[in-house]
Amino acid sequence: MNKAPVVIAHRGASGYLPEHTFPAKALAHGMGADFLEQDVVASRDGRLIVFHDLFLDQLTDVAQRYPGRARPDGRSYCIDFSLAEIRTLRVTERRGKDGIAARYPGRFPAGTGSFRIHTLEEELEFIRGLNRSTGRQAGVYAEIKDPDWHHQHDVPLGDRVVGTLRDFGYRARDDGFFVQCFSASELQRVRTAYGADLPLVQLLEEGADVRRPALSAIAGYANAIGPAISLAWPDRGLVGMAHELGLLVHPYTFRADALPPGFKNFAELVSTFVEGLGVDGLFTDFPDLVVQQARTTT
Ligand code: G3P
Ligand code: CA
Repeated sequence: MNKAPVVIAHRGASGYLPEHTFPAKALAHGMGADFLEQDVVASRDGRLIVFHDLFLDQLTDVAQRYPGRARPDGRSYCIDFSLAEIRTLRVTERRGKDGIAARYPGRFPAGTGSFRIHTLEEELEFIRGLNRSTGRQAGVYAEIKDPDWHHQHDVPLGDRVVGTLRDFGYRARDDGFFVQCFSASELQRVRTAYGADLPLVQLLEEGADVRRPALSAIAGYANAIGPAISLAWPDRGLVGMAHELGLLVHPYTFRADALPPGFKNFAELVSTFVEGLGVDGLFTDFPDLVVQQARTTT
């Protein structure tokens, strides 16, 4: 029997509530997710906020509340707003690039609800509280978002994220956390700065080189890979190769309302990755569905 894969709530239970809000994190915790994900970016005053995009437009009312603050590309960037300003924004369900239509039309109604952005510290405190009050330990899974962009704006984001995690007691793998990033150089730098105990995940976007030499290089500094689904399926042996090199495999992102081509339903998708490929974990917007399926079939 395979070991049950860990279920990583992608931006919380984001299939049901606006991503990265406290309600989405609380729901994911209650659904039994093993880890709750944090995408982390910085504000103008260097505070770390839990937010996926570098800019605020597709998830908040920034254009209405702060007209004239967009850059020439039409976007209002987190790094141009103080934390106090960011806290005044209303978060909604994600909209598409046109800023109007919902990205996932069947989800929480866009433009409704009363949701806010919070800091990484506040989220870690929130999870610590839930772990204590429920007696069930959910881990944290923080992503350093675009470290080059943040370095250009004088924010050493990797150091700040790792430092904040350490302040909350997340230092080694047994502490129940991972640190993830798409940038290999940032992960290598973090590895050198903070040592071998830090559980690091190399994220791999669609089209990334996943041949053995590339994976072997990753195994020199990371503990796991987080590949896009399309890198692992159709199967070209990625999971087996990664395991031979001692790397865990946590693919992203499993969405019941956005199936990859060739899958009839979400259960078939999950089963292909869990039972067929033997992945070690899954990022999902629907943690309840994966928890239910993964734990009854492994
Ligand atoms: O971190 C895994 C996955 O979340 C990476 O993609 O864009 O959703 O952060 P993204
Ligand atoms: Ca992420």
